[in-house]
Amino acid sequence: MITWGISANSHDAALAVFSNDGLEFASHSERFSGIKNDAHLNEELINYALKWGEPDEVIWYERPFVKTLRQLRAGQGWHYNENNIKQYLKGYGITAPIKYTSHHHSHAAAGYYTSPFRNATVVCIDSIGEFETLTVWSGKGDSLKKIYSQGYPHSVGLWYSAMTQRVGLKPNEDEYILMGMAAYGNPHRLWNDMYEMFSYVDGCDIVYKKNFHRGYKDFRPDLTTEQDMYDIAAATQKTYEFTLEQILEWARKYGSSNNLVLMGGCALNCSANGLAYKYFDNVWIMPNPGDAGSAVGAVLAHKKYHMDMDHVYTGYNIEGEYPVEEAVKELQAAGICGVANGRAEYGPRALGNRSLFADPRGHDIKDRVNEIKRRQKFRPFAPAVLSEHYHTNFEGPANSYMQFTARCTNPNLYPAICHADGTSRVQVVRPDGSGIRALLEAWYDATGCPMLLNTSLNIKGKPMVNNLTDAEEFATMYNVKVFTGKQ
Ligand SMILES: [Fe+2]
Repeated sequence: MITWGISANSHDAALAVFSNDGLEFASHSERFSGIKNDAHLNEELINYALKWGEPDEVIWYERPFVKTLRQLRAGQGWHYNENNIKQYLKGYGITAPIKYTSHHHSHAAAGYYTSPFRNATVVCIDSIGEFETLTVWSGKGDSLKKIYSQGYPHSVGLWYSAMTQRVGLKPNEDEYILMGMAAYGNPHRLWNDMYEMFSYVDGCDIVYKKNFHRGYKDFRPDLTTEQDMYDIAAATQKTYEFTLEQILEWARKYGSSNNLVLMGGCALNCSANGLAYKYFDNVWIMPNPGDAGSAVGAVLAHKKYHMDMDHVYTGYNIEGEYPVEEAVKELQAAGICGVANGRAEYGPRALGNRSLFADPRGHDIKDRVNEIKRRQKFRPFAPAVLSEHYHTNFEGPANSYMQFTARCTNPNLYPAICHADGTSRVQVVRPDGSGIRALLEAWYDATGCPMLLNTSLNIKGKPMVNNLTDAEEFATMYNVKVFTGKQ
């Protein structure tokens, strides 16, 4: 039995393949089309997924008719035809029977059934599903029961996206950049203006005075300077953290577990995620908590079974041995190199198989990587560190998926991976047999340095490198060696 889970036709489409043995493949559509955040499926992705056979059934990640009603209510028009998923999939040659699950149920299932918990409170926060924008669930054994739901237009995610647009960034895409900008601003200056936007906040009951669906470009039009933008970002982040704490406190009180599963696009806010430990003993965030993760979540919502998700290497495969020796040599000689090997990561982070690595020591390395990545200087870089050296260099929560920020205790030794606020978004690499673990061990043996700067291997404006051709293109364009392993 082959089951496909699909989230598409909105933004950042993804497809997951399950066989009787479990998850066989999951990838973002963009990696195959080369179009960043591609909203739609494509032939290359589908052909790759067909390696596991024709699907017997497809589970779609949301309920299209309910979404159509919400779009109508939101004044976006009648999109009945665009939301006809049977026709949509037929256009890609997919004719298997389709089942549907609700948007937030897909988020909750993606989180709960991939978590190590058999009882948990699940919190999903995003911009918008069909109507729902915030849900809380109780997971027990194989069942998931919704205990709270907040609906459109009140939406923490829509508000955060509106502020992302206000500082000149792209909503629904650049929220992580706003989060990085926050470290350069004064969070107190605009706190009152931010708080004014709520008409009511009490636990999960978060009611805004405004509908942020169409943005909030006219928020404080007098603010125009670069520092103003940083201050808006800082106040936005501080307000988000305040809201998140309200939600988590409620969820701890009215949920029945000290285990938390946090999901939805807002769970990508690694600066805020650590707050979860104030209210819960254990926290799991699926490594792909946004809508693309719902390709897996939709299937799990139907199958209702737990699967261990101990890695995210489920995408396109570049065969061959992980190029440990070559990478260490190049890192010692040039300070920077790329690796594209094995199965690509499912999720927004490069965790070793499609990574640009750099020596985190030395003050010029951040500028050099920034020049290659052609990105804003204020953006932070993340380290991948051997797990046994985590506590001598960082303080705070961290895991294998860069989902939390920790305080960097040796900023002078590793300036390239410390953000302006003294934190790092760390990838803790345990002895798990992965290629990146072998690379870090060899790097440590050669240099005594237990970490590497790890950023995604992508050409500016494009998604992460997927195949050998993409890897070559990156190497040629930026004149950086990219090792793909012995084929
Ligand atoms: Fe969502």
